[in-house]
Amino acid sequence: LENGLGRAPQMGWNSWNHFACNINEDIIRQIDDCWAAYDRDSQGNLVANPSTFPSGIKVLADYVHGKGLKLGVYGDAGSRTCSNKMPGSLGYEEQDAKTFASWGVDYLKYDNCNDQGLSPQPRYINMSKALLKSGRDIFFSLCEWGVNDPATWASGVGNGWRTTGDIQDNWGSMTAIADTNDKWASYAGPGGWNDPDMLEVGNGGMTTEEYRSHFSIWALAKAPLLIGCDIRSMSNDTKEILSNQNVIAVNQDELGVQGHKVQQDGDEEVWAGPLSGGRVAVVLWNRGSAEASITANWNSIGLNASTVVDAHNLWTNEITSSVQGELKETVDTHACKMYVLTPK
Ligand code: DGJ
Repeated sequence: LENGLGRAPQMGWNSWNHFACNINEDIIRQIDDCWAAYDRDSQGNLVANPSTFPSGIKVLADYVHGKGLKLGVYGDAGSRTCSNKMPGSLGYEEQDAKTFASWGVDYLKYDNCNDQGLSPQPRYINMSKALLKSGRDIFFSLCEWGVNDPATWASGVGNGWRTTGDIQDNWGSMTAIADTNDKWASYAGPGGWNDPDMLEVGNGGMTTEEYRSHFSIWALAKAPLLIGCDIRSMSNDTKEILSNQNVIAVNQDELGVQGHKVQQDGDEEVWAGPLSGGRVAVVLWNRGSAEASITANWNSIGLNASTVVDAHNLWTNEITSSVQGELKETVDTHACKMYVLTPK
């Protein structure tokens, strides 16, 4: 969507993966389902839940803005949200977009429950138009779970679109979602991104190496980097993964091309994509149950066979100079190694 937003994938924190409906205004920064009162007020306006968000969303937005952050809220393109605990915006798009703008909301995640039998396109287009008319720049995140292949129609509607159902905090779910999202790689770019759902890093269902793989592949695929754990009590390993500046820089690179799976040999995979300045990001990913040697060939990652590069290992911060033709490394089970290759 050309609303000036989403020039790089969105980054932030969202309550859902860890807290689900157990949120309140003390658990702040970005809010998923369950922030509103059960019913609209007498004028049809959405109102914050008086017991969990007694100060209202405007006060929360002011607080979050005061910290130099932006506030996202959650809504639904149906009659009620998925939890069924708050109203949806179907038929109230303009009114709700104005309400969000008046509160100072910067981001809308728009879910797809209780659709009243209507297809997603018109329901999401209506909210997109309403947000554009709301008088405030609001990042529009389509959460319709890949229904009707949104990559093929949503680039003029929103700044991102979910390509899959909900992620679960386990290796099988994370890898399957990475593969499904990968099919739509060519549709992503500045202004509109494929969204394989929020991060599970730090929620406890995967090993540290599995979470490192999850974060590396999401970064390479130009996916939103939305933290989904309880950051108040995260471990040092979780913090180290989520705050790796090298990996985040790949995700936020100005070229904005989604990296994708370029080689597969059984469980041994190479994912790669171009970066600004002629550089290439590469992930050697071992999805098998034993240590493996994985080789990225220059011809499959978009480099000429004669190109000589410096290979920066983004997780160890080591640089290997003058690598030519291929990059061959041993990778632990369910782990990855991630590099930026800079031609000499
Ligand atoms: C479905 C979405 O896909 C989830 O991310 C979350 O927002 C829940 N609904 C909330 O009910």
